[in-house]
Amino acid sequence: MTLSFEGRVVLVTGAGGGLGREYALAFAQRGASVIVNDLGADTKGGGKSSAAADKVVEEIRAKGGKAVANYDSVEDGEKLIQSALDAFGRIDVVVNNAGILRDRSFARTSDMDWDLIQRVHLRGSFLVTRAAWNHMKSQKFGRIIMTASAAGIYGNFGQANYSAAKLGMVGLANTLAIEGRKYNIHCNTIAPVAGSRLTETIMPPDLVASLKPEYVAPLVLWLCHEQCQENGGLFEVGAGWIGKLRWERTQGCTVRQKNQPMTLEAVRDQWDKICDFTDATKPANAQESLQSIISALSQVESEGEVSANPTASATASSSGINPAEAVGQKIPPTTFSFTHTQCILYALGVGMSTKDPDHLRFLYEGHPDFSCLPTFGVIPSMTAMMDGSLSSVPGLNIDFTRILHGEQYLELYRPLPTSGKLTSEASIGDVLDKGSGAVILLDVNTYSGDELVCYNQFSVFVVGAGGFGGRRTSEKVKASLPPPKRAPDAVVVDATTRDQAALYRLSGDWNPLHIDPSFAAMGGFKAPILHGLCSFGFAARHVLKQFADNDPSRMKAIKVRFAKPVLPGQSLQTEMWKEGNRIHIQCKVKETDAVVLAGAYVDLHGAAEASPENLTQGEGLQSELVFAEIGRRIKDSGSDLVKKVNAVFGWEITKDGKNAAQWTIDLKNGSGSLQKGPYSGKADVTFTVSDEDFMEVVQGKLNPQKAFFSGKLKVRGNIMLSQKLEVILKDYAKL
Ligand code: NAI
Repeated sequence: MTLSFEGRVVLVTGAGGGLGREYALAFAQRGASVIVNDLGADTKGGGKSSAAADKVVEEIRAKGGKAVANYDSVEDGEKLIQSALDAFGRIDVVVNNAGILRDRSFARTSDMDWDLIQRVHLRGSFLVTRAAWNHMKSQKFGRIIMTASAAGIYGNFGQANYSAAKLGMVGLANTLAIEGRKYNIHCNTIAPVAGSRLTETIMPPDLVASLKPEYVAPLVLWLCHEQCQENGGLFEVGAGWIGKLRWERTQGCTVRQKNQPMTLEAVRDQWDKICDFTDATKPANAQESLQSIISALSQVESEGEVSANPTASATASSSGINPAEAVGQKIPPTTFSFTHTQCILYALGVGMSTKDPDHLRFLYEGHPDFSCLPTFGVIPSMTAMMDGSLSSVPGLNIDFTRILHGEQYLELYRPLPTSGKLTSEASIGDVLDKGSGAVILLDVNTYSGDELVCYNQFSVFVVGAGGFGGRRTSEKVKASLPPPKRAPDAVVVDATTRDQAALYRLSGDWNPLHIDPSFAAMGGFKAPILHGLCSFGFAARHVLKQFADNDPSRMKAIKVRFAKPVLPGQSLQTEMWKEGNRIHIQCKVKETDAVVLAGAYVDLHGAAEASPENLTQGEGLQSELVFAEIGRRIKDSGSDLVKKVNAVFGWEITKDGKNAAQWTIDLKNGSGSLQKGPYSGKADVTFTVSDEDFMEVVQGKLNPQKAFFSGKLKVRGNIMLSQKLEVILKDYAKL
């Protein structure tokens, strides 16, 4: 049965000549109502005439067909579609065909050459198609043709502008095909070859004559017919021959290994393989394209994911270990910048909740005692562990995909700040030979500026890397200790949530083992497991609450050995034994009674040791200088400032979450004064702010109102007086 376009309304752009004319005639001949659009421009886009379109309309009408002319540029897309609606009441098919050339070698391509080409081809097709889109959508039928070119697909000398526009149209069509599919709007692209005025300058005359536009038109008509289900296709067509194109991709090659950096040399070494089209694949969409990338990722990540099942690969002994060379080697320092957000996220990750009023100081940055949980100290040093730097250590030539986090020791030298930048320096403390594997002791010191904040010792077990004739133990080991043989002094049971690991990982441990069921299955687990360091955080805060009144400054050190995994949703039971300032702990999964943290303990500072009095008042604070200058200026001002301000301002400057200095600016009494330390009289308003934020405010980098609303500046007393603060501090902004 012949294919008919009866009842269909077809717009062909640039239909005054060449290919477009042929399409218009063919559609009309098959019963379509045709809008013959043509600006009547010359091949370079100059000039304008209605003659070209009119002539084609006449031809169609002479044969009994239905057609109207439209003389607008495709840059007025809406007008073209309006012509269709005005004349025939609908629009079913859009053939984006209009085109011009402005060929130049690339260096000589002017802005105009570039822009005109993009405007007519790419932007014009966009505008016309967009104008038709909603009509097609609501009638649940539409067929769109984009006209690309071999020059776009393959490139062609002197056609940079044109190639870019033409391949741009392929991209446009690819997405329209996806977006239109469910509305029965199909979009396909052709790259035609035909003799026309565009090609007569570059092809020999007899070729121009024989490559007839009528050898292209039937493809266009077929792609636009309701029977044709083709969508998102790209076709080369000419001389009656039609071929379809698609993307082809090599098998490719993954050039990195788990926990190792990807290197330029690896890319060079695998170049032939990357480019080898043997057994090439043909991804048909972005999902298929991404699939191989995802599968490469899980392949790399699952390489020796032995933490699940250490015995499986324990037999594989690959000993590239030379302790003499490795011990003492340093890993390049890593930095970790954070704000209160990370502290709070971590606290949530280790199960803190607003259900417990005690927890608010770790969950709300506006809390007067807002603090960072001490076990957050493992987070900055994780980067040193996670980024694969270990693999570049000389003397540790081992398979880093086979590592297990065995034990953790954390010691704190001062309370962790709630924001800032910490630098971690890691070195190999020792390498031990445990027969079935090796234990690497990684020592990480974390600094805030020059100050040592905390020390971590990671014990990393490398399965199958033992037997190199090394020592079994070392004086460097922070040993785990068994609990006393008596009933625990305290037991706390705390449920983890189903999403505990999903939440904890946001603090920086992205191993899919803790979230991806199929990944966990590869490791031999029935479900993703909780991070060992998450249970560690739970246990530590149980101790902190039970024995240290939730005062983070009292935690001195913690040691745990990771014995068994925990599944998110299970309950952790922390058993605690107090032996002086040492609290021994053992953590079990309540449901199974399995010990998950063994040989663990927390060392606490005595209650008095960490009290604020022990901090030297104001020492080393940046604000010190500013207050000194404020004092001088109060003296210099006579009583001017007192007259202007008439208030007493108390200041509490904090450092690392601790009260570090107190100041009183008295601009009410006498000729004004500045006092350091607690003020005997009453301040009208008292501000609490960290040393750093104080400096930001003084330097005008932080607006006091903003500081207040973000919780950085706390105000007690007559809050209205804080408006005067800006006036006072502004005077000091140039310090
Ligand atoms: P052509 O020059 O005969 O036809 C193009 C028509 O578009 C002209 O009638 C012209 O007035 C019209 N036009 C130009 N700017 C316009 C605008 N802003 N608004 C409305 N109409 C406008 O050229 P031909 O060969 O028929 O080309 C048709 C399409 O096929 C073009 O997009 C061209 O780039 C493409 N093409 C042609 C090839 C060939 O071998 N003929 C090869 C590859 C692509």
